Amino acid sequence: MGNLKQIVVLALAVLSRTESIAARLPLSGRLLHPRYINDSFLVKNEYDYVIVGGGTAGLTVADRLSEDGSATVLVIENGPLPDSAAVTEVRGGFGGFSSPYFYRIQSVPQPELHNASYPVLVGKAVGGSSAVNAMMTVRGTSEDYDRWGQLFRGGGSGRASPWGWDGLLPYFKKAVTFTEPGPEVRDAVDIEYDASYWGNTSTVYAGWPSFQYPGLAPQIKAFRDMPGVEFPPDSGAGRAGVYWFPTFMDPRKVQRSYARTGHYDGINRTSYDLIYNAKVTNVSIDEDLTANGVVFQMPVKNATKLAFVKAKKEVILAAGAVHTPQLLQLSGVGPKTLLDKAGIETLVDLPGVGENFQDHPMLGIAIMLRNFTVHPSPMDLMTNRNFSKWAQEVWDKNRTGPYSIAMGNVAAWLGMPVISPERHESIASKLEEQDHAAYLPPDTHPTVLAGYQAQMNALATSIRSSNTAFYSLSISGGNMPAGSSVLLHPLSRGSVRLNTSAPTTSEPVVDYRALSNPLDLEILAEFVRFTRAYHYNTSLAEYDPYEMLPGPEVTSDEDIAAYIRRSLSPSEYHPSGTAAMLPRALGGVVDEQLKVYGVRGLRVIDASVMPTLPGANTCQTVYAVAEKAADLIKADA
Ligand SMILES: Cc1cc2nc3c(=O)[nH]c(=O)nc-3n(C[C@H](O)[C@H](O)[C@H](O)COP(=O)(O)OP(=O)(O)OC[C@H]3O[C@@H](n4cnc5c(N)ncnc54)[C@H](O)[C@@H]3O)c2cc1C
Ligand SMILES: *[C@@H]1O[C@H](CO)[C@@H](O)[C@H](O)[C@H]1NC(C)=O
Ligand SMILES: *[C@@H]1O[C@H](CO)[C@@H](O)[C@H](O)[C@H]1NC(C)=O
Ligand SMILES: *[C@@H]1O[C@H](CO)[C@@H](O)[C@H](O)[C@H]1NC(C)=O
Ligand SMILES: *[C@@H]1O[C@H](CO)[C@@H](O)[C@H](O)[C@H]1NC(C)=O
Ligand SMILES: *[C@@H]1O[C@H](CO)[C@@H](O)[C@H](O)[C@H]1NC(C)=O
Ligand SMILES: *[C@@H]1O[C@H](CO)[C@@H](O)[C@H](O)[C@H]1NC(C)=O
Ligand SMILES: *[C@@H]1O[C@H](CO)[C@@H](O)[C@H](O)[C@H]1NC(C)=O
Ligand SMILES: *[C@@H]1O[C@H](CO)[C@@H](O)[C@H](O)[C@H]1NC(C)=O
Ligand SMILES: *[C@@H]1O[C@H](CO)[C@@H](O)[C@H](O)[C@H]1NC(C)=O
Ligand SMILES: *[C@@H]1O[C@H](CO)[C@@H](O)[C@H](O)[C@H]1NC(C)=O
Ligand SMILES: *[C@@H]1O[C@H](CO)[C@@H](O)[C@H](O)[C@H]1NC(C)=O
Repeated sequence: MGNLKQIVVLALAVLSRTESIAARLPLSGRLLHPRYINDSFLVKNEYDYVIVGGGTAGLTVADRLSEDGSATVLVIENGPLPDSAAVTEVRGGFGGFSSPYFYRIQSVPQPELHNASYPVLVGKAVGGSSAVNAMMTVRGTSEDYDRWGQLFRGGGSGRASPWGWDGLLPYFKKAVTFTEPGPEVRDAVDIEYDASYWGNTSTVYAGWPSFQYPGLAPQIKAFRDMPGVEFPPDSGAGRAGVYWFPTFMDPRKVQRSYARTGHYDGINRTSYDLIYNAKVTNVSIDEDLTANGVVFQMPVKNATKLAFVKAKKEVILAAGAVHTPQLLQLSGVGPKTLLDKAGIETLVDLPGVGENFQDHPMLGIAIMLRNFTVHPSPMDLMTNRNFSKWAQEVWDKNRTGPYSIAMGNVAAWLGMPVISPERHESIASKLEEQDHAAYLPPDTHPTVLAGYQAQMNALATSIRSSNTAFYSLSISGGNMPAGSSVLLHPLSRGSVRLNTSAPTTSEPVVDYRALSNPLDLEILAEFVRFTRAYHYNTSLAEYDPYEMLPGPEVTSDEDIAAYIRRSLSPSEYHPSGTAAMLPRALGGVVDEQLKVYGVRGLRVIDASVMPTLPGANTCQTVYAVAEKAADLIKADA
């Protein structure tokens, strides 16, 4: 069994964190943008809007604000402009941990995880994290967005708020063009979808690989044996359940579709400039507390020097949830206690900047289906050289076959009443009765604590609802689950703070504070029990399940908790929440217009503004938020 265990661990690692051996593709036919600027002498002195960060949100908003030519936009991106097909190549999913297009950041040691430190993965390139992500195209349920609106309305209904499901759905449609699966794969594996939840005007595409493993069908079917599991008509329906979802892929080219291909490449507009390899060091805020431009390090020949560019209308922060709070803090907008330590003058004491940090923790649970003989499977691809050689040839010649799959296209997204009919009510009650202050750092500002309490009360309600997904499990089509189970609504909150001993020269200090709220551990333990039941108490039982991880001997609460502490990853690379859209009295950093409290002419538009994570990978939500942000900004112009 030793070897088999090794293969499974390897397979899980490969499937959930794919290392790609990307074949290089010619970039023929692509327009070379005339406004790619790599020399600061070409940057004008002033623009209407200066956008910090040429990532997922930044490029989306830059495109929208400049499209009718009435306003000028400059995007400043710290990363390079990769000329490599490694970014667009669908084969193998994201570029792997060795990709040069990541920041190199390690979290602080996590005391609840044996003091282990974890890599903080965020993209560093034109396109940001959308250039390196795993391309899963999913959104949360309606309740995830209604909760955002609710937090502004004293717990009342968030449905009708501008950021509730009804308010965001048009922007989900605007953000991504849906393309239907081809008949070869739709009929073979019975992909269900409903295009009415999608739009068809965006230049960012969601498509379907031309190949799916036939073994998916029995694994989907087995969920019908689990009470309460629903099968929504589409991944975009805003409902929890087991469903198919597309991939951020342009199906005509079988290439990654991301912020750069959708909102920059091929656009030839004098109203839209972008400079790359240029790092913004701080926002310039005048005595009237108005943001008037940014200071950035610009590449000049082989050196860098500081430059200033003026923003006539607004500075827009889109540096992602790790670097946006750092930039606010460096600009004098943040918790005064922190800024004092770093020797930075406080312009606006905003205690929420960098707090409320959230990511999706992942827990490996590996159960083999020993008698599962539906071929081909991902396991065949990894263990059968002939098959992988064939797959490579088909891919090289035709861009079809198993290598056209970036990640699997079906998963379960389930609420706590489904996962844990027995214990979810007691977990919800415990959450309501908790002394919430005990699970934040002792020096937490009262407004940040109030925001945490409001979130925990809202999430207690969500624990009782089957339409807020807490658990996800991807399905592989092989004899083991494809990836990890993911905690979609963690109760623990971390922080992103500038490094007070080297504020301007070092990366921010990232602390997940994983499992700092002990109820996360109780919820994850329910995931282990549910995943076991799904394998042993359904039609999958006939395939002779064998538990590799945590292992059949791990049954007591104590042993399961010990396994979780040993093997949890605190991140699925979905950092968010660090410049939360919440009332200021709840530790908020931006209002419902995404304007930073206390400063004029400054907004945040990236993953930092999400007050609570959606129960889904975050990219599609970031695009929708950015599309809505563009309309809010235009309405103010
Ligand atoms: C490895 C990985 C896999 C993922 N998989 C998926 C998935 O399959 N599906 C999904 O939905 N989501 C996925 N995500 C998450 C998703 O990609 C992100 O949530 C989303 O892209 C974040 O968008 P953003 O605009 O907030 O930030 P980003 O897209 O990260 O953009 C921020 C940009 O700002 C730049 N920047 C930072 N600081 C500065 C500065 N000082 N000056 C100038 N520029 C600066 C950065 O270089 C970066 O380009 C994944 C993420 C990663 C990292
Ligand atoms: C983690 O580190 C802290 C501080 O260094 C130490 O007190 C604690 O004992 C460590 N915990 C574990 C589990 O190693
Ligand atoms: C796009 O969607 C609209 C309505 O949603 C529909 O009328 C139109 O036919 C669609 N166009 C294409 C090219 O699919
Ligand atoms: C961009 O537009 C300008 C002005 O319309 C035109 O002269 C130029 O050829 C265009 N460049 C490309 C690469 O399309
Ligand atoms: C931020 O920018 C201003 C320019 O307006 C500059 O004077 C100031 O020194 C900068 N602050 C930091 C911390 O770099
Ligand atoms: C800008 O790009 C040109 C052409 O690719 C290159 O020769 C030059 O060295 C670059 N300049 C900088 C500052 O990177
Ligand atoms: C480039 O950098 C090298 C090494 O730092 C230095 O010796 C050289 O003078 C620089 N060249 C220019 C043109 O600045
Ligand atoms: C690969 O194919 C060759 C002959 O074509 C065969 O001898 C060999 O056993 C096959 N290997 C595997 C792993 O199937
Ligand atoms: C190439 O793709 C076409 C269309 O999907 C398919 O019919 C054909 O069999 C493929 N060829 C190979 C070698 O896989
Ligand atoms: C803060 O910066 C200093 C100096 O670069 C570095 O030695 C230290 O490790 C950093 N601290 C953290 C927590 O990253
Ligand atoms: C299967 O169901 C039975 C009866 O409900 C239960 O006792 C048992 O614990 C379940 N097994 C698993 C692995 O969940
Ligand atoms: C698995 O397959 C073997 C060999 O075909 C068979 O003996 C065994 O009963 C099967 N196990 C189950 C649980 O069906």
